[in-house]
Amino acid sequence: MSSSQSRNSPPRATALIEALRGLGYTSGAAIADIIDNSVSAGARTVWIDVEWNNGNGRVTILDDGSGMADQELELAMTLGDKNPLDRRSESDLGRFGLGLKTASFSQGRRLTVASKKDRTVSILRWDLDYLLTSADGGWHLLEGLDPRTPNLIEKLDEVVSGTLVILELLDRMMPNGGTTQDLLDLLDRIEKHLSMVFHRFIEKSRLTIYLNKQPIKPWDPFLSSHPATWSSPRTKLDKRNNGAWVQAFVLPHRDRLKPKEYEAAAGPDGWNSHQGFFVYRNERMILSGGWLSLGKGRHWTREEPYRLARIELEIPNSADADWKIDIRKSTAYPPPIARATLTHIAEDARERARRVFAFRGRPSTGNQNRDPVLPVWEAIQVRAGIRYRISSEHPAIASVLDIAGKIDGTLQKDIRTMLRVLEETIPVQRIWLDTAENKDTPRSSFDGEPPEEVLSVAQTIFNSMLKRKGMSPELARASLLRTEPFDQYPELIASLKEES
Ligand SMILES: Nc1ncnc2c1ncn2[C@@H]1O[C@H](COP(=O)(O)OP(=O)(O)OP(=O)(O)O)[C@@H](O)[C@H]1O
Ligand SMILES: [Mg+2]
Repeated sequence: MSSSQSRNSPPRATALIEALRGLGYTSGAAIADIIDNSVSAGARTVWIDVEWNNGNGRVTILDDGSGMADQELELAMTLGDKNPLDRRSESDLGRFGLGLKTASFSQGRRLTVASKKDRTVSILRWDLDYLLTSADGGWHLLEGLDPRTPNLIEKLDEVVSGTLVILELLDRMMPNGGTTQDLLDLLDRIEKHLSMVFHRFIEKSRLTIYLNKQPIKPWDPFLSSHPATWSSPRTKLDKRNNGAWVQAFVLPHRDRLKPKEYEAAAGPDGWNSHQGFFVYRNERMILSGGWLSLGKGRHWTREEPYRLARIELEIPNSADADWKIDIRKSTAYPPPIARATLTHIAEDARERARRVFAFRGRPSTGNQNRDPVLPVWEAIQVRAGIRYRISSEHPAIASVLDIAGKIDGTLQKDIRTMLRVLEETIPVQRIWLDTAENKDTPRSSFDGEPPEEVLSVAQTIFNSMLKRKGMSPELARASLLRTEPFDQYPELIASLKEES
């Protein structure tokens, strides 16, 4: 201790709390922060009740955790009762000693906490309106329930020990004038958020969360049990990131999912938003997408072609300071030492995702062990950029050129000119725009066409191979199987017959 003179300079309670109200919690994030405390206290069940109450809305969150004795409760209600620099137990989801208060005040003006431990119930309350009326700016923590609050303490009869958090005067969560539809929307947002951030706990049956009596189902961002999902091996990050690990996933293309599955997999904020890193801290999701300011040259942003890439990143709470975890537990920045590995893994996943997106779920490496497929279009890198060319090797093109050559040299030249005109005028911009706007690649490769259409085109080429090229049916079938887009239709090709 230095011998300097000091003054006690506490903040004015109302001013500080008003300022903290603006931290930017959504309702879902605020409730999640309160449930974090329940999880840290060993709760297995959380019951959330959200009531509209004609504009006098109320939220209660009850858990069956360890509960708190009176002194502990008083500390729990204190802003900054714990030092963020202290070591925490491995399963503790807290860090700053603020969450309960900041999350609650972000939604409403009155926070009451009742806690039961050793068969004794203690109740304490913060009321912003009361603090405003007290002239001294002090921290007046009130005892017991507000006289206008009904006797909700009975809820604690349900548990041997546990804690009940009551949020009232919900000026931010349910601003006056809302409707029951607003309440339904609110419930929907809360449900989606909780099913996302606590999905691990729910999946492992370590936690059951009831929202207005309905159990919340987990949302797995990685569709890890779907056969068409690709996943990388789990990679441990550097030792200094004690226990952090990462695993990349590329989700199936829309065509491989049932419409319901596709919709569910999108997640609360939609496909584009939920691409990139999903960061978990002690299994609780704190980030649900984004590229962590990684990238080569410039930071990667969320873009359509990469939306099937989702990367799971797990960090332990001992690394909070390194990862710059914030009070809301909704940001994380990789420390310099982890950036190179993460960039590498993300780059690979992004490229794979882009290919699945572009090829409609057929991995371009589909016939790895066979001969390369003959493309119709070739992308050729020239100095001015990329040009797209129609391959004259493709049987459908080759046979026409061949016949034309036999009939008349100028006809062949005309056809080549026609192809060139097509090549020079492919609506690249248009395709690109349509892809961006429809959030999907335009249809190609006979996609969605009835099989007869495909069959008739294939049959024409097949005939020409037999008649004009003198190929055997077996050879013609084999070469069609190596030709775009017929490589996608092996059964149809097998059924081609020699026409008499
Ligand atoms: N539901 C609960 N059951 C038991 N103890 C609780 C509960 N809620 C809060 N506490 C106690 O109150 C303390 C303060 O909670 P608060 O959420 O404000 O901060 P924190 O969880 O320590 O850190 P953070 O600001 O990161 O959330 C907790 O550390 C815990 O000891
Ligand atoms: Mg907390």
